[in-house]
Amino acid sequence: MLYLWIKAFHIISVIAWMAGMLYLPRLFVYHCEAEVGSKQSETFKVMERRLLKAIINPAMIATWIFGLWLVWLGGWEKSGWFHAKLLLVLVLSGLHGWLVRLWRAFAQDKNQHSQKFYRIINEVPAVLMVGIVLLVVLKPF
Ligand code: HEM
Repeated sequence: MLYLWIKAFHIISVIAWMAGMLYLPRLFVYHCEAEVGSKQSETFKVMERRLLKAIINPAMIATWIFGLWLVWLGGWEKSGWFHAKLLLVLVLSGLHGWLVRLWRAFAQDKNQHSQKFYRIINEVPAVLMVGIVLLVVLKPF
């Protein structure tokens, strides 16, 4: 029973993390178009900071805590699917760290990338999520 409660909170955290990971680069796409110093640009800064601090960062921490708790309770540490999932989740966490760096550049009005760049970045978390969910649900190996 405890296992199912933790799994439920794991999925809730995952949804919040993924929502933020998909929305932040989308905000960057629009932020690129706003002139530095404009009211619009300053509004994007507030939206990005709140999204990162209030949702994405805490949701990532909660996903890891509940996920590792499930591994411990379920004894999944030797399963092949889990190793593959862990790899993809580490890539996702690395992307999270990279988005934080890109966010800092926007916060200091020092963005160096194009709209097209952020549109491409925007697809990466979605692709990783598909792989992660298929691995954990189908457990192919
Ligand atoms: C942060 C590190 C993570 C760890 C250590 C972890 C680990 C786990 C474990 C051990 C389970 C239980 C599997 C089972 O009971 O069959 C689970 C369930 C699940 N995880 Fe994760 N996970 C992590 C991140 C993620 C991410 C990023 C996603 C999605 C993008 C995700 C999606 C899911 C889903 C959908 C389930 C429920 C699967 C089911 O009940 O069939 N997890 N996770």
